[in-house]
Amino acid sequence: LLSVEAELALGEFTIFPQIDSTNNAAATAIREGRAAGYCCIAEQQSAGRGRRGREWRSPFGRNIYLSQVWEFQAGASALEGLSLSVGLAVVRALTKFGVTGLGLKWPNDILYRDKKMAGILLEMQGDPSGVCQVIVGVGLNVDMTGANTAGISQPWADLAEVVGVVDRNALVAELMSALYLVFQEFSFGGFSAHKDEWSRYDVFAGRPVRVQLGQTYIEGVVTGVDRSGGLILTTPEGERVFNGGEVSLRGA
Ligand code: BTN
Repeated sequence: LLSVEAELALGEFTIFPQIDSTNNAAATAIREGRAAGYCCIAEQQSAGRGRRGREWRSPFGRNIYLSQVWEFQAGASALEGLSLSVGLAVVRALTKFGVTGLGLKWPNDILYRDKKMAGILLEMQGDPSGVCQVIVGVGLNVDMTGANTAGISQPWADLAEVVGVVDRNALVAELMSALYLVFQEFSFGGFSAHKDEWSRYDVFAGRPVRVQLGQTYIEGVVTGVDRSGGLILTTPEGERVFNGGEVSLRGA
């Protein structure tokens, strides 16, 4: 297993009242040589993005939209499984606020009782075989009261309905330190350091699912995740392993 030589500097922290996407602000910071430890949050995003080209609804003032840059040196391939580890960081932070009933949907959705409470978008920059930066974008529904939720494509939850009003500053601080610790752990052991803990939250383990791979659908039962965060599926043709970038997953 590769150990990731990483820059865990604490760096710039910016709060934007409004921005297109915090992940774009992070990309700009990287381009301008301010990557080390960069973190930003916004009160509102006009073009918040999710995985697979989807929109991330980002109303003003009640949620968390955060992007953290992590710079490392072992090449992009050493990052396999990082998105799962980041999901675990969000779960750890929420648990500190008394939230129970959390689950993780491979590769990195954070669910509360099967409804999505937070999502993660990782974007890479730099040299895939040398020094790279990963932009870790986290969107967390803290309180969706008053938000336009029409057309959100999947069932969602917010923190307010579970634990009431929370101090977002305290939550951002908790999230940042959980991310920091997870990066540190990941840099020593990769995802394997988190596999057992992640598996305790795995909402699909043992369940029949349908995996979409391009235009193809593959049905099977989820066995779990492997040491690099791949999804292990038992199909009529035998065992198959999938990686996060290429597939999407639904209960069958
Ligand atoms: C997903 O579940 O599809 C991922 C959602 C990620 C949303 C966050 S909000 C902060 C950061 N900026 C963005 O534009 N997206 C991520």
